[in-house]
Amino acid sequence: MTELNPDIEQVILTEDDIQSKVALMGKQISEDYRDADLLLVGVLKGAFVMMADIARAISIPAEFDFMAVSSYGSSTRTSGIVRILKDLDLDLHDRNVLIIEDIVDSGLTLSYLLKNLKGRKPRSLEICALMTKPEVQEVTLDIRYHGFAIPPTFVVGYGLDYHQRYRNLPYVGTLKPHVYED
Ligand code: IMP
Ligand code: MG
Repeated sequence: MTELNPDIEQVILTEDDIQSKVALMGKQISEDYRDADLLLVGVLKGAFVMMADIARAISIPAEFDFMAVSSYGSSTRTSGIVRILKDLDLDLHDRNVLIIEDIVDSGLTLSYLLKNLKGRKPRSLEICALMTKPEVQEVTLDIRYHGFAIPPTFVVGYGLDYHQRYRNLPYVGTLKPHVYED
């Protein structure tokens, strides 16, 4: 059992919760995309942990690419403005594309990404998101693979950061108030 990071107030999703869910998602994706020439697109930086785990939970041939977007700057509130910091290397034309996202908060980042990637004429375009915050989501999204609905609080771990830290925690949790004050 991993020792709890002292800055974490409450664990929202344990390592076991996440690992069993990701295994299930990988199994479902492998069934749905059998013979489909799957291309997974991870949204950096947050999705790098989820991408590594889901990659190994998928048993069919698949390709992987990443793009980096920034929607938050370094604060804990969404700005609604999405910047592409690194674009994909691969051409999406006629590919079956599955976007891997760590968390959907307002949904603004993903709705921008969907519009952008649709313009590249993939054969199909679906979303896989580990977490959503339904109470604060501002745009409706059709999320084909969904892990957990969590409360509308700021969380870190499993790829998610606060000022670039805590991404390496194997669980997801809230931060103690003093962390924001320091
Ligand atoms: P949205 O555009 O509001 O849906 O925000 C999506 C992005 O903001 C995610 O891909 C994360 O990188 C980041 N984000 C949203 N909620 C959290 C959180 O609770 N902790 C850390 N990052 C978050
Ligand atoms: Mg992200």
